[in-house]
Amino acid sequence: MMEADLLIVHAGQLLTLAGGGPEEGPRRGAALDHLGLIRDGAVAVTDGLIVQVGPTPDVLDDVPKAAEVVDAAGRVVLPGFVDAHTHLLFAGSRAEEFELRLRGATYQEIAARGGGILHTVAQTRLMSESALVDVGLARLNRLLAHGTTTVEAKSGYGLSTEEELKLLRALHRLNARHQVDVVPTFLGAHAVPPEFAGDPDGYGHYVIEEMLPAVAEEDLAEFCDVFCEQGAFTPEQSRAILEAAAEYGLVPKIHADEFSDSGGARLAAEVGAISADHLLYASEEGLRAMAEADTMAVLLPATAFFLGLPAPAARRMIDLGVAVALATDFNPGSSPTYSMPMVIALAVLRLGLRPAEAIAAATVNAAHAIGMAEEVGSLEPGKVADFVILDATDYRALAMHFGVNLMDEVYKRGRRVYSSRTGVIAE
Ligand code: NIG
Ligand code: FE
Repeated sequence: MMEADLLIVHAGQLLTLAGGGPEEGPRRGAALDHLGLIRDGAVAVTDGLIVQVGPTPDVLDDVPKAAEVVDAAGRVVLPGFVDAHTHLLFAGSRAEEFELRLRGATYQEIAARGGGILHTVAQTRLMSESALVDVGLARLNRLLAHGTTTVEAKSGYGLSTEEELKLLRALHRLNARHQVDVVPTFLGAHAVPPEFAGDPDGYGHYVIEEMLPAVAEEDLAEFCDVFCEQGAFTPEQSRAILEAAAEYGLVPKIHADEFSDSGGARLAAEVGAISADHLLYASEEGLRAMAEADTMAVLLPATAFFLGLPAPAARRMIDLGVAVALATDFNPGSSPTYSMPMVIALAVLRLGLRPAEAIAAATVNAAHAIGMAEEVGSLEPGKVADFVILDATDYRALAMHFGVNLMDEVYKRGRRVYSSRTGVIAE
């Protein structure tokens, strides 16, 4: 008979998302809506890891006692969300730009006039690494309060070697200091900085020759992302950067086909990217190439909603066998939201995903999209005990109660780190 550190018992609905182990890869097609739902479910945790999951009577047979027992009767328990695409660290506000957009200017017109990303770059360069860490800690608390327990975070508001290193070093300090796991991505090719105005080729070479070696030297990033779009980087420039990154061991990702079909989906497949993100205007041919190459689609419905853009062809992607994940794209200009539940609601109400598919896309598939599926994304023995308890009797509430935070409790590595009564519980 085993004694655990923590037992969650009698969950009205326990969503394990089990059965899609890393060796099986992310969920595709019909497998996307398998929640592994157990009624009257229980989870046992020891040393931050899940040791047993199943119907409460079965789990209690194996693990009858624990230092702490939580009764989740009438509530839903599911894995903590994995937010697979964020721009977590930046300074300043884009409220003026928001006003301009409300008066008819487009996001791209504002960018072309030197606003947008470059406005945020100017402000972020003024902030010290330590000040960025403080900003980041507060933001991670807010993500945690909305149920996110693992987050991918990109650089990209520095755009010089020193400034990009500052952002990536801050991300590493955040990962060490905060309960939420932070997975860093180098996005040196987010925009062409003022120092290289009108010379994207020159900046692309600088990214390859100067920035990438420095990032690799300090082992500061898992992934390398590129904004492949008219007005940012062409497919040729993007390919050169991603192929160079791969030689340094950074796995490619792409901001692809967000505002036009610029061949980003196809390029993602060709360079073996782990994911292509956005994909509002991706071609059928590009999507087929992604399915073939096992490149995942990370869909960002909050961005399309905030910018008033059309929805990506999510159902078509699922039908073609593309593995789909969801993320917030949290950033100051195109998606200032911390809420994966809001993203799930938008995925259901605007992209046509079913609630179960959206939950799988926000947990197990999102973990695959950032190389974390061996540790997180589902509730199975051996995985990290990251889960949330909802103030709801049915999981579909996540998609129905849009704009509402249903998190009752959030657990990270088997520790309660947020409660709706007390807020975030510091270490
Ligand atoms: O994913 N598309 C490029 N990058 C971000 C926007 C960043 C910003 O506007 O500051 C995005 O939407
Ligand atoms: Fe983005």
